[in-house]
Amino acid sequence: MTIELRDVVREYHIGGQRVRALDRINLQLNGGRFVSVVGPSGAGKSTLLHLLGALDSPDSGSVIFDGTEIGRLSDEQASAFRRHRVGFVFQFFNLLPTLSAWENVAVPKLLDGSRLDRVRDDAINLLGRVGLGNRIEHRPAELSGGQLQRVAIARALMMDPSLILADEPTGNLDSATGASILRLLAEVAHEGGRSRLVVMVTHDRDAAQATDRVISLQDGRVGSDHGDRLRNDERAAVRR
Ligand SMILES: Nc1ncnc2c1ncn2[C@@H]1O[C@H](COP(=O)(O)OP(=O)(O)OP(=O)(O)O)[C@@H](O)[C@H]1O
Ligand SMILES: [Mg+2]
Repeated sequence: MTIELRDVVREYHIGGQRVRALDRINLQLNGGRFVSVVGPSGAGKSTLLHLLGALDSPDSGSVIFDGTEIGRLSDEQASAFRRHRVGFVFQFFNLLPTLSAWENVAVPKLLDGSRLDRVRDDAINLLGRVGLGNRIEHRPAELSGGQLQRVAIARALMMDPSLILADEPTGNLDSATGASILRLLAEVAHEGGRSRLVVMVTHDRDAAQATDRVISLQDGRVGSDHGDRLRNDERAAVRR
């Protein structure tokens, strides 16, 4: 999968004041990659993530997701797009406190109209995949921070989306637990044959170092962009 941003501008107008949160961003992001977005507070990182996930639209320029201009979708189209193509992972997990781990994982399918008993096996399989096969009936209050984030990642994978967006997913975790979440996100991006893109906003330099590509934003612009190397298999394909 591929996402292309062309001359993307996003401006906010509050009380006569204009803030240009994104200022002519041009980027191409490819599947199979774990990409981090870093930069000072207010640089536009969350704004960028929202545009990638069709939670927001640019004022000018375009966001092209596998050939579809997602910046111009109607509200209804955007919500269908998000439901099927994007998984979101947040700093504060955003799990429903009264539901068990597997029910939380199942939520995206329920919102899409599936019956709970039909999706139970898939939800439990996903929990197994993130290392929580022995916690399926636990509620959020009965899980550790790292476990909560694993549930959230399993939930993000429930619709098998080609894009996972994570805003500070390790922000509330100690460094060892955070490192295990980073390994899991890398696995999700590198899973063979799937071409899934994982984009993570982070303040943590070590977390960014663990990713394939580090894009730094500064005042709404791309300051630096390191590490978008072809993987070995891709290099071999180009040579062939
Ligand atoms: N809904 C909004 N209304 C008005 N201004 C906004 C809004 N959202 C963001 N901004 C402004 O846009 C700029 C970029 O905000 P953004 O949230 O993308 O920053 P960020 O890089 O994610 O920062 P942080 O690291 O603090 O989360 C900031 O100057 C902010 O004040
Ligand atoms: Mg932010």
